[in-house]
Amino acid sequence: MTIPVSIEWKNNRLIILDQQKLPHEIDYLTLDTIESVYDAIVTLKVRGAPAIGITAAYGIALAAMNHHTENMLDFREYVQKDVEYLAESRPTAVNLFWALERTLLSIKVAQTVHEAQELLLKEARQIHIEDEESCRTIGEYALTLLEGQSTVMTICNAGSIATAKYGTALAPFHLGRERGKDFSVYACETRPVFQGARLTVWELQQSGVDVTLITDSMAAHTIQTKKIEAIIVGADRIAANGDTANKIGTLNLAILANAFNIPFYVAAPSSTFDLSISDGSAIPIEERQSREVTHIGNLPIAPPNTKVYNPAFDVTPAKYISAIISEKGIIYPEFKENILAVLGKTASN
Ligand code: MRU
Repeated sequence: MTIPVSIEWKNNRLIILDQQKLPHEIDYLTLDTIESVYDAIVTLKVRGAPAIGITAAYGIALAAMNHHTENMLDFREYVQKDVEYLAESRPTAVNLFWALERTLLSIKVAQTVHEAQELLLKEARQIHIEDEESCRTIGEYALTLLEGQSTVMTICNAGSIATAKYGTALAPFHLGRERGKDFSVYACETRPVFQGARLTVWELQQSGVDVTLITDSMAAHTIQTKKIEAIIVGADRIAANGDTANKIGTLNLAILANAFNIPFYVAAPSSTFDLSISDGSAIPIEERQSREVTHIGNLPIAPPNTKVYNPAFDVTPAKYISAIISEKGIIYPEFKENILAVLGKTASN
C-alpha cells in the first residue's frame, strides 16, 4: 500500500501524474515548456490548490532555463511575463499566486542570469519540500481532532495527489492507516468532473484506507443513516475572516454539518490563506466550460445547446466552520483574531 504522489522533478524535467486520465490510466507526463505547464493546469491534469502552486513554480523555473540571454533586465522582463501568463491559468486557488510571487521574490538579489535561473529552481524545490512537510503536520493535527471519530465524509480530492504528498483533508486518513487507526471515509463523487469518484477513491484505495463512494445528492441521507461523525474538506482560498472557497458542493456539506450538529473541518496550509481580503465575497470563483455539465466524458447527458451555469467553487461562510487545520496549528473561531495569532501575522502582513 502506498500513498501516491503526483509531482516529481527529475533530470531538470517536471513529471506529473495525469489526473485527467485517472483512475483508468496511470500515465505520467513530462512538462518541459511553460505552455505545457499552463495547459496541464487549465485542463486539470494537475489540480488541487497546493499542487497548482508547486507546478507553477517549476513552470517558471523551466521557462527561465529556456531564456537565452545574458542581460538581467531582459531576463527579469521575461520572468515577469511568464508569471503573468501562468497567473491567467486558474483564478480561485490563491496558492498559485502565492507561489508565483515567491518565484519573483527569489530572484530579487540575483546578479546574473545563471544565478537567477538557479535561484528559481531552488525556490520551486523549496515550495515543493515545504508543502510535503506542511501536509504531514496538518495530518498530525487532524488526527488529534478526529481522535474520537472514525466515520468521516469528504468532497473533491484534497489528497496526496493535490499536494506534494499526504494531502490536507485526506492526510489524517493516510497517517491513520500507517498507525493502525482505521477510518471509514465517505467520498462525495463531486460533480461535474468527479474528483471524488475518480481521484479520492483511487488515492485512498492505493493507500489501503476504507472508502465508500456516494453521489453528491446522497450526502444528507448518508450523514443521517451512516452516522457520519465529522466532515473534513480542503480549501482553495481562505479569507481573513475564515470564509473558505473550496470545490463546488462544499457549502452544501457545511450547511448539512450544521443541521446535523457534527463538526465541519477545513484543512489547508498557510499558503491557502489570503489575508488581503477581508471576507469570502472577494474570492474570484472560476466558471468552467459548459461541457463539464452537459457531458460525462464524451457522452452528452443534456439536450444540445442547453444553457449551463458551471461554477467550480463555492464559499463557505466562517460561521459554519468548526476549525481550520493548518500546519501552524488548529484555528478555532473567532477566526478573524485567531487566524492572525496562529499564522503569526499582523493585520498588515
Ligand atoms: O478544481 P480542483 O480539482 O483543482 O479543486 C480542488 C479543490 O477544491 C481542493 O479541495 C482544494 O484545492 C484543496 S487541495 C489540497
